[in-house]
Amino acid sequence: MTIIEHGRHQTSYPEWTDFCSIGPDALMGRWLRTFWQPIYVAADLPVAYPKPIKMLDQQFTLYRGRSGDPHAVGFRCAHRRTQLSPGWVEGENIRCIFHGWMYDPEGQCVDQPAEPEPFHAEIRIPAFPVEEYLGLIFVYLGDGPPPPLQRFPDVEAPFMAVDTKYRETSFYNHLALDRAHVNFTHFHRAPEARGRPTVPDAEETEWGMNYVYEADSKTDKVTYFGMPNVTAEMNFTRPGRRAETQLRWRVPIDDETHRDFTVRGFPSEAEYESWHQSRGTTQQEHNEKARELARLILAGELRIEDVTRMEKGNLVGNTEDNVTQVGMMPNSERRLEHLGQGDKPLIFRNGIFERELRALSEGRELKPWYRPERLEFDNVSKFLGHTS
Ligand code: FES
Repeated sequence: MTIIEHGRHQTSYPEWTDFCSIGPDALMGRWLRTFWQPIYVAADLPVAYPKPIKMLDQQFTLYRGRSGDPHAVGFRCAHRRTQLSPGWVEGENIRCIFHGWMYDPEGQCVDQPAEPEPFHAEIRIPAFPVEEYLGLIFVYLGDGPPPPLQRFPDVEAPFMAVDTKYRETSFYNHLALDRAHVNFTHFHRAPEARGRPTVPDAEETEWGMNYVYEADSKTDKVTYFGMPNVTAEMNFTRPGRRAETQLRWRVPIDDETHRDFTVRGFPSEAEYESWHQSRGTTQQEHNEKARELARLILAGELRIEDVTRMEKGNLVGNTEDNVTQVGMMPNSERRLEHLGQGDKPLIFRNGIFERELRALSEGRELKPWYRPERLEFDNVSKFLGHTS
């Protein structure tokens, strides 16, 4: 790729510095496929109601069999290559709407009604391992047998909320670890609170990275970044009580768009109810509204201050993040960024990405990321140097 910066040509960059190309042949796409990825909210997939899915630039059909188990098979029927999702679910199988060929959850064709001499034993479409966990449906799109699905016992709270949002920007632009933006993107309502953010160092761990900072005068935020695209965020109200835990995956749909899947665990029903009430609308309406408000702001038809006057709570925060992320450069211009000390964690993570993608490109062994059983600092206040 050739990039022009200030009239100066820069020659091609190594492929392992490209974090936004996520197709099956791109390095980042190959790396992401070595991990299970969430692709759908489990409650949104009724029995026998197949859905056409596109994730990681790959199309497939997701359906729930009559037993309630989810299955993922190829996007098209092998016969005349029509889309399979309008078909019917029979038991655990799916039958094509065009001429009735039927496939089992392994993608094996098991029926060809119009064939006097069926040859279905020779016909197979792709199929992918699927698991349901934490209110999400995960799929493994990599080659060979999948690793065990990662478990998150710390989020398996008695009260959980599951949410998804679509965002029109690369998944890379939404991968968190940006402490400095909080004071400006989200504190514009109180300019006096902006100050000059201090950005802490991050450290590499067996799962990814740890990143701890003071969110405000009452709350410490701990972010564990799990390679390559999941974060576990915990808010601690001082002196060290955990108020809420969020798990977030940012999963590419294609190079330019992605979907965020968030699971929130609440320690009590009261905190769960209070979070729901703060939303005011359903999650989907909330997210669509935030996207529309951001579109108007980016088009110059609205100011963020107007949104603050009209709306409240998390809708404003969601709109603010939409504005900055959707307003970011196209992927081809990512290397024109000028990162500084305020971006230390991001630079640190990019270094890990480059190291792993380069190893993949050269056929060397990748770091086996291991998630510890629990992700809790024993004493966050002490970690941050608080005395109370
Ligand atoms: S295209 Fe599916 S059965 Fe013919």
